[in-house]
Amino acid sequence: MTKTKVGVVGYGTIGQRLADGVFLQKDMELVGVVDLAPTLAVRALFEKGMPYDLYLVDMDKKPEFDALGIPVKGSLVDLLQKVDVVLDSAPGGIGAKNKEIYDKYGVKAIFQGGEKNSVADVFFHGYANYEKGLNKRYLKLTSCNTTGLIRSVDCLDRAYGIDRVAITIIRRVADPGDYHRGLTNALQIDKAPSHQALDLMTIMPHVEATGILVHTPITHGHIITVVATGKQKITKEMALDAFRKHPRIRVVSIDEGFKGNASLFKYARDLGNPRGDMYEIALWEDSIVETGDSIMYAINIPQEAVTIPETMDGIRACMGMQQTGAEATAKTNEYLGIGKWKTCFKN
Ligand SMILES: NC(=O)c1ccc[n+]([C@@H]2O[C@H](COP(=O)([O-])OP(=O)(O)OC[C@H]3O[C@@H](n4cnc5c(N)ncnc54)[C@H](O)[C@@H]3O)[C@@H](O)[C@H]2O)c1
Repeated sequence: MTKTKVGVVGYGTIGQRLADGVFLQKDMELVGVVDLAPTLAVRALFEKGMPYDLYLVDMDKKPEFDALGIPVKGSLVDLLQKVDVVLDSAPGGIGAKNKEIYDKYGVKAIFQGGEKNSVADVFFHGYANYEKGLNKRYLKLTSCNTTGLIRSVDCLDRAYGIDRVAITIIRRVADPGDYHRGLTNALQIDKAPSHQALDLMTIMPHVEATGILVHTPITHGHIITVVATGKQKITKEMALDAFRKHPRIRVVSIDEGFKGNASLFKYARDLGNPRGDMYEIALWEDSIVETGDSIMYAINIPQEAVTIPETMDGIRACMGMQQTGAEATAKTNEYLGIGKWKTCFKN
């Protein structure tokens, strides 16, 4: 089997997880990761015994790494000559600049949610529009919230057809370890409609969407409430049936002990998941209610890990590794071990 060669540019919150995700895909090879400074993530990589080769954006910085004893395999340009596709997880806006280098070396690239949509040929989601990404040069992933939101709306859309959704996003203000946003103890509201609703309409133009976003001073996950109006009335049982079949949606309940975002983060740590990550979004069974012809529900978005599976799907699409979203997402799910709980518990 010829493996697709992948590089990760920007070894931060998302980049570390992308690297781990690629490493688990048996039909891909992680050639290396790229960063520009001996950050804590790079130091942790070194302390773990350098499971991944490290390349530098700027070789003038190499003496800083030499002084710490951190081995450097080469430059970004060296890496680009060895890979088929790059996963750009540099801070928002930097990816657009990096794209000039990817262009020069003829390497495909997948950008994360912090870049403008115009950076890529296709705004991509592994379930909702996989085929649009097939063999394309540049893809851009949806943001963490939009990735999880679309999983659930696409799930109902495929099962029953969806005309309209209205969403409320209760958004974590920073990642664990971030200090630059200050220690706020307040709620902050954004101008409506939220970008996630607009993004959903870009990927799923047949669904009308709008919504409101409120920032909260927490770090372990966002919660989104969704009101979805179907082409037919969707009952709670119909919605549950579709959600339960979706590999990347974990249906949980308050009675089990999943009281909120913190319970899910702790559960992921108890499972021994690296960094307390979860690839799945959680959907509270107890949150599903019918209102008139619409259905309402709440989902938890583990923001640091949720886009990793859809990015693996993106590699599969732009490299033409599988021709359908169904085949591609199934491969990604298999290699990431997604959906283990479905075969573990009896119900
Ligand atoms: N943090 C999240 O929860 C989250 C969720 C989904 C999507 N995203 C998106 O993922 C992308 C990365 O975000 P993040 O949170 O991982 O950022 P981060 O700040 O944690 O990591 C970025 C890394 O890129 C490195 N870097 C800086 N300039 C670089 C350059 N020119 N070339 C290569 N590397 C460079 C930094 O040193 C850092 O290690 C953004 O587009 C963001 O919007 C973030």
